[in-house]
Amino acid sequence: MIQLKGAVAPRRALAAGALLVASVFGATSAMAQGSPIRVGLMLPSTGTYAALGTAITNGFKLHVAEQGGKLAGRNVEYFTVDDESDPSKATENANKLVKRDKVDVLVGTVHSGVALAMAKVARENKTLLIVPNAGADELTGPLCAPTLFRTSFTNWQPAYAMGKVTAQKGHKKVVTLTWKYAAGLQAVEGFKEAFEQSGGKIVKEMTLPFPNVEFQPFLTEIAALKPDAVYVFFAGAGAAKFARDYHAAGLKNSIPLYASGFLTDGTLEAMGEAGKGLQTTLHYADGLDNKKDAAFRLSYAKTYKLQPDVYAVQGYDAAQLLRAGLAAANGDISQKDVIIKAMEAAKIDSPRGTFTLSKAHNPVQDIYLREAQGGQNKVIGTPLKALADPARGCKM
Ligand code: PHB
Repeated sequence: MIQLKGAVAPRRALAAGALLVASVFGATSAMAQGSPIRVGLMLPSTGTYAALGTAITNGFKLHVAEQGGKLAGRNVEYFTVDDESDPSKATENANKLVKRDKVDVLVGTVHSGVALAMAKVARENKTLLIVPNAGADELTGPLCAPTLFRTSFTNWQPAYAMGKVTAQKGHKKVVTLTWKYAAGLQAVEGFKEAFEQSGGKIVKEMTLPFPNVEFQPFLTEIAALKPDAVYVFFAGAGAAKFARDYHAAGLKNSIPLYASGFLTDGTLEAMGEAGKGLQTTLHYADGLDNKKDAAFRLSYAKTYKLQPDVYAVQGYDAAQLLRAGLAAANGDISQKDVIIKAMEAAKIDSPRGTFTLSKAHNPVQDIYLREAQGGQNKVIGTPLKALADPARGCKM
């Protein structure tokens, strides 16, 4: 009996081993053959930021299409939610993707307030989150996390650069105006930090609720205050309306208007005459002299019959970053540690210029000074090179 057992046992073990090998191999080959990576795109497709959401989606999908519709050998399946840039619906919307659709990775969003709620859902469910726009400083500050990455910027980054540039131009007294939510408030803080370090003074900080566009009372007040310059954070459709109103109020030629580059990205056509000559700071610009950008712009224009903007670039780079992570794990999304390590070490060949990620997972990148000329945001300088966000409060 004992002998018999002894004889059978190895055979059983062999059979069990073979089964195990077969099932592991089966899983791997099913994975390689195209069980898709589930990507949840949580972005606005309505409201003042609708065009930004579309550009991010286009950029992300363009990179995937360039890879033959795959990322690291895996097909990609998209699940989408219109988050309406509404923070009050953000938790529910993120849960739809994470719990109902069981996405492997969340990509989103544009609005800082919505992104903060997304980050909470992603963290609670240990879901990988790639932020392709929202600049909320907290995401790569006190809320930084191993599974949270950003391919865009912090609200601080372009604003800090504009504060420095405004001071260098010799302006002393500035009025600020923005929407009263994280992005605008943090941009003003960043601007103020650099501007006041250089001896400037903010004489008045004005805000209106997001996404209101009743700018007239503020323009009347600016005209009365007569500051040396005005700094604003606005984006999307609201930004175009603001520039037109600033121009129509007769302020454009008397009080220089400066902004984080979101004011003029994707909006110059809608601004018309009002946009001409506006100077802004951003981590992307039209007419950058690099090969990747030239190829990207050609490919984007061909595919979508549209010119790309910073949002398209950030979406494209979100897909590039995910691919870098997945490639290191041979497409196996369950190997989180391997994926995270590879994403942390990635050097992204971006249309904006190559960038790496800081310890807090935010791009370390050049900030360009741009001037709107002929419908484009042309580079006229690089006030800060390889600028890293201070990542205050990030313990990682
Ligand atoms: C943000 O809410 O973080 C935000 C929105 C639009 C932009 C930039 C930042 O263009």
